[in-house]
Amino acid sequence: MSGRFYVTTPIYYVNDVPHLGTAYTTVTADALRRYHLLAGDETRMLTGTDEHGQKIQEAAAARGQAPQAFVDEVSARFRDAWPQLSVAADDFIRTTEPRHTAWVQELWKKIDAKGGLYLGQYDEWYCVGCESYKTEKELLPGNVCAIHLKPVERVQEPSYFFRLSAWEKPLLDLYERHPDFIQPESRRNEVISFVQSGLRDLSVSRTSFQWGIPAPGDDKHIMYVWFDALANYRSALGDDPALTKFWPPGGRLVHLVGKDILRFHAIYWPAFLLAAGYPEEALPSQVFAHGFLTVDGQKMSKSLRNAVDPLNLAKELGPDVLRYYLLRAISLGQDGDFDHKGLLERYNADLGKNIGNLLSRVLGLCSRYPADRGTPRREESAAGGLAEEADAELIRSANEALAKARTGWEEIAPHRALEAATELSSAGNLYVDRAQPWALAKGEKWERLAEVLAALLGVLEALSVLVWPAMPGKSDEMRRQLGLVPLAPATGRDLFPRTFAARTSAAPLAAPTPLFPTFDKAAEAALLAKLMPPPTAETNDKPATAAAAVADAGSPVSAPQVSYDNFAKVDLRVGLVTAAEKVPKKDKLLKLAVDVGEATPRQIVAGLALSFAPDALVGRRVIVVANLAPRDFGKGLVSHGMLLATGPSEALLLASAPDDAAPGARLK
Ligand code: MSP
Repeated sequence: MSGRFYVTTPIYYVNDVPHLGTAYTTVTADALRRYHLLAGDETRMLTGTDEHGQKIQEAAAARGQAPQAFVDEVSARFRDAWPQLSVAADDFIRTTEPRHTAWVQELWKKIDAKGGLYLGQYDEWYCVGCESYKTEKELLPGNVCAIHLKPVERVQEPSYFFRLSAWEKPLLDLYERHPDFIQPESRRNEVISFVQSGLRDLSVSRTSFQWGIPAPGDDKHIMYVWFDALANYRSALGDDPALTKFWPPGGRLVHLVGKDILRFHAIYWPAFLLAAGYPEEALPSQVFAHGFLTVDGQKMSKSLRNAVDPLNLAKELGPDVLRYYLLRAISLGQDGDFDHKGLLERYNADLGKNIGNLLSRVLGLCSRYPADRGTPRREESAAGGLAEEADAELIRSANEALAKARTGWEEIAPHRALEAATELSSAGNLYVDRAQPWALAKGEKWERLAEVLAALLGVLEALSVLVWPAMPGKSDEMRRQLGLVPLAPATGRDLFPRTFAARTSAAPLAAPTPLFPTFDKAAEAALLAKLMPPPTAETNDKPATAAAAVADAGSPVSAPQVSYDNFAKVDLRVGLVTAAEKVPKKDKLLKLAVDVGEATPRQIVAGLALSFAPDALVGRRVIVVANLAPRDFGKGLVSHGMLLATGPSEALLLASAPDDAAPGARLK
């Protein structure tokens, strides 16, 4: 029976451009939607941009642009980016659109009419980066935001408050009654303990800036950007019954979000809706939080994010390969690493040597052994005539893979669904080896040969369906070679195979063309050189936009002044890292040999291990404090100097010297 599936991505802040992190969420949502399309469900996917708030106002000002002109420009970059990753969202909402602002004002009025809001005075900390209020407990010493590592602001102004405290018990009841409401389980537990520890009323308006939706009846107040933003999921449907039918209980609504913004979705959003009078059954069905990506083992700083552009990756590899890697290599819900070398390894192993190989092998066999009998095929239904042991094994593995793929998508585990696709392909490759079509041809066992080839073509046809949610373009191409039309999902028709069936179609096959051409070593190295951010990207890379520069700016200079004479006492030298290794049992430390122009390189022990693999440092030119008193780390491990760097210990950026600076050159 067909159902309705409505999936949303977060709406992205326009002080940034599309990057690998936002691409990850968006591609995942698109793949989930595509699975449901195949399953015959009515589907809808929504994405868009979050355009109000202090952060955006400041980013626009930093560019010298009026906020509206700024948001128009950046929003278009998001809208144009996603189709390049084969994302086919049904709607793209912008929070500056009248259809949104009108709906949010209605929501405000409904909550207000039920006594959910009151006017008070706000006097607390606010992080503009998070667009979120902070308690003292959440801050680092010096009133610094633990996420953005920047000082927070003290906000003191009149504000409307939302009675969030009143919803503590109803929210806990909701989580209890609907264990699936927050997934994965570990994240659900975090939210539950957060709510159990007590909810405070939430400030939902500001008066100190203008860029936002005015509060109805009191337009000195601008709505809190999260109050405004969360409502997009509903405002985008408007009043049209053809769209509102997707909202629960009529449809299954899944909000896919990063773990960083789970709280807003799992606590504030249902509380707003309950306070506006939505019954429990008309709340979103699920908030699914995925993990965060690192790139080649490093945290995605702004500069690194800019260096690894998903659109560039899609251009080089094709969108499908990028999509496959994101969906297959990372277990949705857990943190994961976008590893460029791993991407090529998976490309070769899963796609080239497994799926691509099966296609070309089978099509090759079919063209070699047509035996004047036309396209090998079986007229009987399903796998009925396949009676040998190898057949039984193939049918069993194929059925298992099909069931696993379906459950993987249903349970929002794309990595498992795609693992099932490669398992099916492996089963096909194994079957070729066991059934030995060439031996059958030699023995002139034409009937059996036709049977075997029809079974293999059946595997390939099923595979073309299994890969479609992740790789729609490759699926079409596979089907073209198999003489099949592209998949055309239709409501009420479940195209996702439940049981294995040998091919019955008599349509002619095309000549095999490699679906995933393999790279030789040289081509692979050239591709990696093109795709991977250069090792010094973090230091050389200026933030790509003025907006990024604002976000990357550090805290105001507050250290006491020093005289030039005192500064000149610090001997800063260009150093060349000649060797680097981990220090056993010290997670954070690396032992480096650094050439500072002396007879032998110096040993420097530095807290870089959370940010750099040792190999990534060798050959880099760094800045060394050369006359720092030696520091003894115990057990004979002494450091003779220090490297200059910035950032948190797990995402350090090393200060570097240009390539033509000689080791030992003094900085002045
Ligand atoms: N505007 C808010 C969301 C409002 S939704 C009502 C926002 N926007 S954002 O532009 O900062 O995007 C946040 C989302 O981007 C994360 O939740 C996540 O989906 C994605 N990611 C950003 N960096 C990421 C990684 N490094 N890894 C994975 N996803 C990441 O928050």
